[in-house]
Amino acid sequence: MLSLQEAERELQIGGELNPGSWVEHSRSVGLNAKLIADKISTLDSRKAYVMGLLHDIGRREGVKSIMHTIDGYNYMINLKEKDVARICLTHSFPIQDVETFFGKFDCNDEQKSFLSSFIKNALYDDYDRLIQLCDAISLPSGACIMEKRLIDVALRHGVPDFTVDKWKSFLGLKNYFDKLCGCDIYSILPNVMENSYKSLI
Ligand SMILES: [Fe+2]
Repeated sequence: MLSLQEAERELQIGGELNPGSWVEHSRSVGLNAKLIADKISTLDSRKAYVMGLLHDIGRREGVKSIMHTIDGYNYMINLKEKDVARICLTHSFPIQDVETFFGKFDCNDEQKSFLSSFIKNALYDDYDRLIQLCDAISLPSGACIMEKRLIDVALRHGVPDFTVDKWKSFLGLKNYFDKLCGCDIYSILPNVMENSYKSLI
């Protein structure tokens, strides 16, 4: 797997190709994933950090919606980084149904069918779950309470029919990792309260 330095370099290049808040969000996901993984003996925190840094690397290709997952997957497969490639797809789907994506389906039929069957058939492990969790608690400025980030996404993408089910699924991930860590994850992440008090609009 890529070293931390190589992952950070990829993120930096991605940010030069397509500047945006996704770069700081990715750094936040990486750091939060590492801090949580540090508390769980079965997880490699360096691997979690690299996966967090690169989960949105598809955004290097431009401002896209669901295509950012497929672009990231293809880019990482070309680098022979199969585990990170998988995370590029799974991080947006705590529910294993492609239709539960917040955003536009800016992919063609063939790409949608590939993504649909990949997600439906994937056997999620704790790395998939950890990055899904961290994506849902990481603003560009750092960790915040999940409810805050869910509203942040809803303000940008609206609230489709599956919203409540997806929120429940994310909230379930928080409970799952609280148990694995033996503490409330917010207690081990920096500046959660400060970030949670900031206005989103
Ligand atoms: Fe993300």
